[in-house]
Amino acid sequence: MSRAVCPGSFDPVTNGHIDIVARASSLFDEVVVAVGVNKSKARARLFTPEERMDMLREACAKFPNVSVAGFDGLLTDFCQEHDIQAIVKGLRAVSDFDYELQMAQMNSSLTEVETVFIPTSPEYSFLASSLVKEVATFGGDVSGLVPDFVLDRLTRRLRERAEQTDS
Ligand code: PNS
Repeated sequence: MSRAVCPGSFDPVTNGHIDIVARASSLFDEVVVAVGVNKSKARARLFTPEERMDMLREACAKFPNVSVAGFDGLLTDFCQEHDIQAIVKGLRAVSDFDYELQMAQMNSSLTEVETVFIPTSPEYSFLASSLVKEVATFGGDVSGLVPDFVLDRLTRRLRERAEQTDS
């Protein structure tokens, strides 16, 4: 049984993430999408870990061999605990490569886990959750970059945040 993890913050999940998960699900018997729930970064997040996992579960429901989990601590510990042999990462551009290579080499020095890079589909090569949030904050159109149900939640959350700031 080959098992892989797609780790990330997913704040929120984008169509680029879903593309990588879909392709990983055709390469491995089982794929776990693992949401980093690092408490020190909690304040910087727009969505709670539970909200991010809920959105991922909805987005990944169409893939029968994909599940969603949260993790805190080292990714390599999560891999060992769940008998995961490979970490799957999407690579958007050369600029991603330096940091991803460093993490892949650190992770393989900690355990025998392999990192598998999947090139992002060209239509998503500019896509990042942080940019989606920034563009949406200023009223830009991000439909087509995230699933419709994520767009609804994003719009609502940004409106709530704006109301909190105004009051
Ligand atoms: O979506 P992101 O922010 O690029 O996700 C980064 C994440 C969560 C995959 C990465 O920060 C991570 O693996 N964190 C777990 C802690 C860990 O194992 N750190 C050592 C990495 S070599």
